[in-house]
Amino acid sequence: MTFLKAGLIKRHIDENIYEEKYIMRLLEANELENVVKLQNYVYSQLPNKQVLYMDSYQEMLDDMKSGAKIIGVYNEQNNLIAYRYIGFPGENDKNLGNDISLPKQEFNKVVHLETTVVHPEYRGNSLQSLTLQQVVPLVKAIGYKHLLCTVSPQNFYSLFNVMRNGLKIKALKRKYGTEADGKDGLWRFILHRDIDVTAFQNPIKLFSTHLSNIEEQKKLIDESYVGFWLFKDSKMLSYVKFDEYAAAL
Ligand SMILES: CC(C)(COP(=O)(O)OP(=O)(O)OC[C@H]1O[C@@H](n2cnc3c(N)ncnc32)[C@H](O)[C@@H]1OP(=O)(O)O)[C@@H](O)C(=O)NCCC(=O)NCCS
Repeated sequence: MTFLKAGLIKRHIDENIYEEKYIMRLLEANELENVVKLQNYVYSQLPNKQVLYMDSYQEMLDDMKSGAKIIGVYNEQNNLIAYRYIGFPGENDKNLGNDISLPKQEFNKVVHLETTVVHPEYRGNSLQSLTLQQVVPLVKAIGYKHLLCTVSPQNFYSLFNVMRNGLKIKALKRKYGTEADGKDGLWRFILHRDIDVTAFQNPIKLFSTHLSNIEEQKKLIDESYVGFWLFKDSKMLSYVKFDEYAAAL
């Protein structure tokens, strides 16, 4: 069992707030049933089902056999209250490096930040951020450096958390469709962070647009702008173009 972190968190039940102990650790394959149970519960409570792409038990089990990891958070009653699932797509066609034109030789250093869910009673403890922060040293130690994920433009909370942890919007497209042209898919941002990059080139152009303005964002991305920052109150996104775009990757 790989222990990662422990501490206190707040649990919200109706108007009441209780403090509880939690433990964060890597999960074993025999805990996948807890993962699926939590995923299904969180999905059932979602007002907008489009924001969460569900993974099946079998998909996660197969993935774990080929190296995927799940960071889990348990409360003091030993119930799973949050998890973050990460995968290593390698040469697979599903590698999100394809969506952001990452050089092929980098594909073996790509980590997919797959699903993250937090039980509604435990939201507001930054568990999405805290689990992401654990991913960085974990994957760095085994030679990975590109964090990639998809987030729905309708999932403000997740987008905000992912961007505040340094991932930048590099593409906006329909994903998970069944048609060959992907037209029936769901809108997703593709975000990326190279964990070895600590400084950016000077921006030469800046543009702000509202999170809901898909067309404008697509145009900006086509013009090599990168979605850099999301403002919490206004839901405005800052897009930035760098002097040497390649140097900022
Ligand atoms: C996205 C998610 C993981 C974030 O959970 P989290 O880490 O607990 O969020 P934070 O701690 O950053 O929450 C910050 C604030 O937003 C609120 N918030 C977070 N998620 C919220 C949600 N889905 N609906 C309403 N409010 C939410 C929190 O209550 C908190 O409010 P406060 O500042 O008044 O205390 C969680 O909302 C969730 O499980 N959503 C459903 C699954 C999902 O969309 N996952 C991401 C895609 S895979």
